Amino acid sequence: MNELERLAASKARRAIMLDKAGSKAEAIKAYREVIGLLVKLVELSDSPVNREVYRERIAAYTRRLKELQEDGEARATQEEPEAKEKSNALPAFLDSRPPVRWDDVVGLESVKESLRQSIIYPSKRPDLYPLGWPTGILLFGPPGCGKTLMVAATANEADAKLHVIDAAKIMSKWLGESEKNLQRVFSTARSEAVSGKPVIVFIDEVDWLTVHRQVEVGGEARVRNQLLSEMDGILTKFNRSFLFLMAATNKPWLLDEPFIRRFQKRIYIPPPGLEERRRILEHYLSKLRTSRDLDLNRLAEEMEGYSPHDIFSVCLDAQLEAVKKMFEEGLEEPPEITMADIRRAMGRRRPSISRESVRMFEEWNARFGAP
Ligand SMILES: Nc1ncnc2c1ncn2[C@@H]1O[C@H](COP(=O)(O)OP(=O)(O)O)[C@@H](O)[C@H]1O
Ligand SMILES: [Mg+2]
Repeated sequence: MNELERLAASKARRAIMLDKAGSKAEAIKAYREVIGLLVKLVELSDSPVNREVYRERIAAYTRRLKELQEDGEARATQEEPEAKEKSNALPAFLDSRPPVRWDDVVGLESVKESLRQSIIYPSKRPDLYPLGWPTGILLFGPPGCGKTLMVAATANEADAKLHVIDAAKIMSKWLGESEKNLQRVFSTARSEAVSGKPVIVFIDEVDWLTVHRQVEVGGEARVRNQLLSEMDGILTKFNRSFLFLMAATNKPWLLDEPFIRRFQKRIYIPPPGLEERRRILEHYLSKLRTSRDLDLNRLAEEMEGYSPHDIFSVCLDAQLEAVKKMFEEGLEEPPEITMADIRRAMGRRRPSISRESVRMFEEWNARFGAP
């Protein structure tokens, strides 16, 4: 087991070396080998945390492998490599606030309350807080349940400047730029916060910063350390700062304890219950033309295990189908969406939240939650 892991690590180093040296064909081969070994490790390991780490690594190397392969194909077909590059380049730093408010986040009232207390009240009346307020807030919970949405809404409600740093994207960048960009984001945020207006630095998918210890990818360590020390600069000052650090993760168990404890608030964003699912359906379907037979309670019941994002996707799918029908059948307007339409859309989208995973989140919440 340990042998296998060491072998995987050394193969990974070799793959990265080859990659950096520009020997594409060899790097591709080496990455394939590493992925093969990691797949074995996933099968053999009985630690869920390790398995998760291996899976993450598989995903990262697969991504890189795809990039290399696509690169090769692009060259072979004489495509413009420049254009390829651009379409692949994901913005790891985002500086805009999506226009969402708390009303766009269905349910999660106690989370909103907690954020109001931590961010909005202190920035409105700092004079009432001689002892300071929390500045580090970690949101955790299953994917698609509104963590990212909640942060965007909080920033709008607080009229705060929002800087989004996507840890997954930063860590999957190979070398260069990331460090400089990070520095820029934090120094901008610090200077903005001096003015007394709230500033939120949001690190999405924060687990990417702490997990990749065993099998290291070149350049990641430096970027990660820099980001961690920048975060420390904010988190260790429990004072009256208007610079807030928010972070979100779908995999809190990958974080290590000292890191977790730095966030004064650790808030669970749970999957929606029956009533919330009904309200989410209502929220999205009320914008569409629906038939009278639509029984939202019934649908909400059938949608056990569907995340809000799954529910949104089902509604979106129903909308697309209705409009398609209108065009194809030459109708005046899209037909009303019926129970059958929604159920058909549900058939195309399986629920993404398992009971097993909910249990894991609840356990973690019982241990580390601090709402
Ligand atoms: N509580 C919610 N109410 C309404 N829509 C939601 C909610 N949570 C998630 N969604 C929908 O799902 C999408 C993805 O949610 P997101 O916040 O990115 O999930 P997470 O960050 O927890 O993975 C949102 O853009 C929104 O369309
Ligand atoms: Mg998210």
